[in-house]
Amino acid sequence: MSNHPKDFILILDFGSQFTQLITRKIRELNVFSEIKPFNISMEEIKSLKPSGIILSGGPESVYDENAPLPDPAILELGIPVLGICYGLQIVTHFHGGGIASSGKREYGLAELNIQNNDLLFENVGEKSQVWMSHGDALTKLPDGFEILAHTNNSPYAAFADKSKNIYAVQFHPEVSHSVDGKTILGNFLSKICKCKPDWTPGSFVKNTVAEIRKRVGDSNVICGLSGGVDSVVAAALVQQAIGDQLTCVFVDNGLMRKNEATEVATTFKAYFESNFISVDAVELFLQKLSNVSNPEEKRKIIGNTFIKVFEKEADKIRDVKYLVQGTLYPDVIESVSAKGGPSVTIKTHHNVGGLPDIMNLKLIEPLRELFKDEVRRVGKELGLPAEVLNRHPFPGPGLAVRIMSDITKARLDLLREVDSIFIEELKNNNQYDLIWQAFAVLLPVKSVGVMGDRRTYESVVGLRAVTSTDGMTADWARIPYDILALISNRIINEVHGVNRVVYDVSTKPPSTIEWE
Ligand code: XMP
Repeated sequence: MSNHPKDFILILDFGSQFTQLITRKIRELNVFSEIKPFNISMEEIKSLKPSGIILSGGPESVYDENAPLPDPAILELGIPVLGICYGLQIVTHFHGGGIASSGKREYGLAELNIQNNDLLFENVGEKSQVWMSHGDALTKLPDGFEILAHTNNSPYAAFADKSKNIYAVQFHPEVSHSVDGKTILGNFLSKICKCKPDWTPGSFVKNTVAEIRKRVGDSNVICGLSGGVDSVVAAALVQQAIGDQLTCVFVDNGLMRKNEATEVATTFKAYFESNFISVDAVELFLQKLSNVSNPEEKRKIIGNTFIKVFEKEADKIRDVKYLVQGTLYPDVIESVSAKGGPSVTIKTHHNVGGLPDIMNLKLIEPLRELFKDEVRRVGKELGLPAEVLNRHPFPGPGLAVRIMSDITKARLDLLREVDSIFIEELKNNNQYDLIWQAFAVLLPVKSVGVMGDRRTYESVVGLRAVTSTDGMTADWARIPYDILALISNRIINEVHGVNRVVYDVSTKPPSTIEWE
């Protein structure tokens, strides 16, 4: 699904760690933007009809043997261009400027002195703090360009050929340390590319609903709801578009958190009304998982069992042609930086075992162009409850990959109690929304304790809480000691069978978020 709004910024990715940040900043300014690899063809660029092009930063130098270079004709299309850092080198390289490895690397904060009051720097003072990160620097201004700003180490920190609307900056306006960065990007969008700031959750819903309606016609559509944000927002969009032609199926696999299956079923029943089917498959999943302790085997069994249950429900509905999936933008970006990176591994987790192929269905992925926080805003626009939208991510295989042994009902129940106390106290102490994901794991070891005058020999649980923006990298959350103490106390006092609580202080990488 690709319905670019008329005003749209194309970002060509040269591999900078900040490329995604440029997209996000532009979208925060209510203009749609999308990342493509630096080497897409001129035909594709022309067919996308961008209002402006941004050339991202990148780790290379334009003089490196395999330096990524776009087609020089992109600077001759008459479309405004902004080159950032490595992007500045490209503009320079193609216009006869000079670049050399600068003796002084510039990394970190610098003071930008604006010497030419131009559209790009409107509403920015004479001096502005910016973030620099480069080794190479300009030695000669490219032909036909004029200097707009300099820093102590970079005499050409910003320059432009205003007649062609080509701009280049050495610093990173997308990084929050560049205090006027958002104003500068905003000026590029509105004053140079003449973009209207009309890409909002409301306009996204309106356009997406119209597009789904057109595509689906009078066919029927099915969607698996997991309780997570992505699938429910995707389903809600499709429901707005085609109403009763959509059927949502929620499979209770018995691996969810305390009371979650009932809460999900009640909330979704209220929202999706007659389009919602809840299937109780708890016994079936338990039976299939009995005596299995290998994590990958657990995942395979859960995926396959889900498909069987789901297919059986789908068979009851006439003329189903489409399946809704809540795929997000970070899973589909073909950026240089993502190639072979951690996103590849994460993606395999998220696909529930090839459902569309097995069932011969076409996919509807209405969130393919959105980041998680944008999905939450769209969900709010659609009137979905805040507790659904702000819920931490939860893996498809659920608690099965948080029990480090084979799965039994008793272990699931014990873990549900521990997890529920942990989450309840995070909410009570205003920590929940600061954390990307928090959960408990049940370890396959027993430890000795003493309760009253008696020796105990019981289970150990691990608590994991991480901060992250997309789950690809993560840091352990610095929950205050007092709150950890309270949580540990409650768990040991209230959950029979647990006499020790440990807190996981590993980052990802090298650890992962889940323990299995
Ligand atoms: P890891 O453990 O790989 O987790 O650092 C990254 C994110 O992915 C989730 N995760 C899964 N999600 N099926 C899913 O739907 C899975 O098999 C799976 N394994 C991990 C994890 O909860 C975290 O948000």
